[in-house]
Amino acid sequence: MISPRRALRDVFPYQPGKSIASVQRELGLKSVVKLASNENPIGASPRAMAAYRKAEKACALYPEGTSPELREGIARFHGIEPESVIVGNGSDEIIRLLCEAFLDPEDEVVVSQHAFIRFKQQASMMGARVIEVPMTDWTHDLALMAKAASPRTKLVFVANPNNPTGTYNTLDEVSELLAAVPKTALVVLDEAYYQYAEGIPGYPKSLPELAREHENLVVMRTFSKAYGLAGLRVGYGVADPEITGWLDRIRMPFNVNLPAQRACLEALKDDAFVRRAVTANDAQRVVVARMLGELGFGVGESATNFVFARSPLPGRELFKSLLRQGVIIRPLDEYGLPHHVRVSIGTPAQNKALFAALRNVLAKVPA
Ligand SMILES: Cc1ncc(COP(=O)(O)O)c(C=O)c1O
Repeated sequence: MISPRRALRDVFPYQPGKSIASVQRELGLKSVVKLASNENPIGASPRAMAAYRKAEKACALYPEGTSPELREGIARFHGIEPESVIVGNGSDEIIRLLCEAFLDPEDEVVVSQHAFIRFKQQASMMGARVIEVPMTDWTHDLALMAKAASPRTKLVFVANPNNPTGTYNTLDEVSELLAAVPKTALVVLDEAYYQYAEGIPGYPKSLPELAREHENLVVMRTFSKAYGLAGLRVGYGVADPEITGWLDRIRMPFNVNLPAQRACLEALKDDAFVRRAVTANDAQRVVVARMLGELGFGVGESATNFVFARSPLPGRELFKSLLRQGVIIRPLDEYGLPHHVRVSIGTPAQNKALFAALRNVLAKVPA
């Protein structure tokens, strides 16, 4: 048999949240609530969806490869140059492009121990050495990460806020990291949950301010969370044009489909929708955290649309029991956290279903 590249031998596929359809199929359930992938429970902007439907007429044609209108829309939105923007098939594609563009085998990548797992996976696929730095209070310790960076470091990944821990780093911490890391390394701020955290005092305003000041900074955002467009797969990176130029050179020729480009351009204009989504999330996150606390979970502070909690049962056991009740959450074994779970914030009705299911499951556990 032909063998894959050496770097791929230890690579495990990313485990996405279990889908509603698969749980329906496997367990014969009609009604399933998914709180496993940090999607937006109120859906997407009606204006964005109207633009999506309108694009139907142009689907016989290839989209423009660089997503120029969306790229310009993003640039206008942030007050930056279009050349600083690269649009990807989800921000996941931007992570991949960064690793493919900048990592030779044996180059170093610095991440924190429980950081979003795609950083480590993608860097390993390139044969890079991944240096994992311990967290402090479930938060990236950026001072320790800076110390771990060496002249061989090419990428330093910081999800801010982080998935799955839900914690964030302040502007001061990020600025100190940027000052301390060698200029030969790119610092990548993954701000997938930006809209949920931006109102927190001390949370950094990375665009346009930080990006203008630092040539070695990449900021990533996504349309998958607060914009409610996870199914369209669109995210973007902002960086010095020399960096985006390399990413542009190696991306797939038509990486973002046409209806997705059009819908996301419109989504950017509907700030009222994003405000509505964030307000609903903030209110329900308090409810979910309180109820989990009452049921014996140790719940952390969260700057996102999910909570991270220590579970009274091993996470995978809880996950399996809840599946049988028609509720999908996320166990965190792959993060090395077998006693923790991640629960996305749902609508009031979904959260009620979660608690009814949790009460059933925990009532059956011998005291
Ligand atoms: C921190 C973080 N970054 C990136 C992503 C990928 O998002 P997408 O590829 O949908 O833009 C996610 C998805 O959950 C995430 O949590």
